[in-house]
Amino acid sequence: MSSKYCHESRATLIIRVFPTDLNNHRTLFGGKILADMDMTASITASRHARTKCVTASIDHVDFLHPVTEQDCISYESFIVLTGRSSMVIFVKAIAENLLTGDRRVAATSFLTFVGMKDDKTVPVPSIILETEEERELAEIAKARIENRKNNKLISKNIASIISTKPLKLRQNEE
Ligand SMILES: CC(C)(COP(=O)(O)OP(=O)(O)OC[C@H]1O[C@@H](n2cnc3c(N)ncnc32)[C@H](O)[C@@H]1OP(=O)(O)O)[C@@H](O)C(=O)NCCC(=O)NCCS
Repeated sequence: MSSKYCHESRATLIIRVFPTDLNNHRTLFGGKILADMDMTASITASRHARTKCVTASIDHVDFLHPVTEQDCISYESFIVLTGRSSMVIFVKAIAENLLTGDRRVAATSFLTFVGMKDDKTVPVPSIILETEEERELAEIAKARIENRKNNKLISKNIASIISTKPLKLRQNEE
């Protein structure tokens, strides 16, 4: 499988914060930020693999600064690591106060996408890192691989012990 440069699959999404996206603290709803991170990263995954791609996991996300109605928020995604079928994609969410021009990192995350065809995982091209930022983030992503595998085992264990019955039925059992 051939290699591709990081810049070939970079993606950006810029959104003006609208009142409908705010929570009851009048800051941007966290779930909207997660959805837009996933959306942007999915474009990077598809551009890189040129096949169907699914989100396998979203790493830990810290919301570092509130985002308000005065802001626009831009999401930028790029691949930092590839495996056989997996792609680790870094996303940064940068908020910009449109009145002052002040810019701050609202959130960051690593998301893993997997290339698929006919319901099977398929190989994806490897990545050629180009910038110092990409190289540094690739090192961080590599260091997190074991952690990610452990998290999946924990999730599978949780799935094996929790009930899938609706709440009402469970209450009747007691
Ligand atoms: C993601 C999915 C395809 C993985 O299937 P699987 O049977 O566990 O596949 P495998 O164990 O063969 O792993 C395939 C690759 O995915 C990686 N992977 C699997 N689960 C992962 C996870 N939770 N986090 C990160 N990487 C993961 C593996 O490391 C492997 O990488 P490699 O090919 O580069 O070595 C499957 O769990 C799935 O379809 N999940 C639902 C996806 C979805 O609906 N997403 C939301 C909407 S897009």
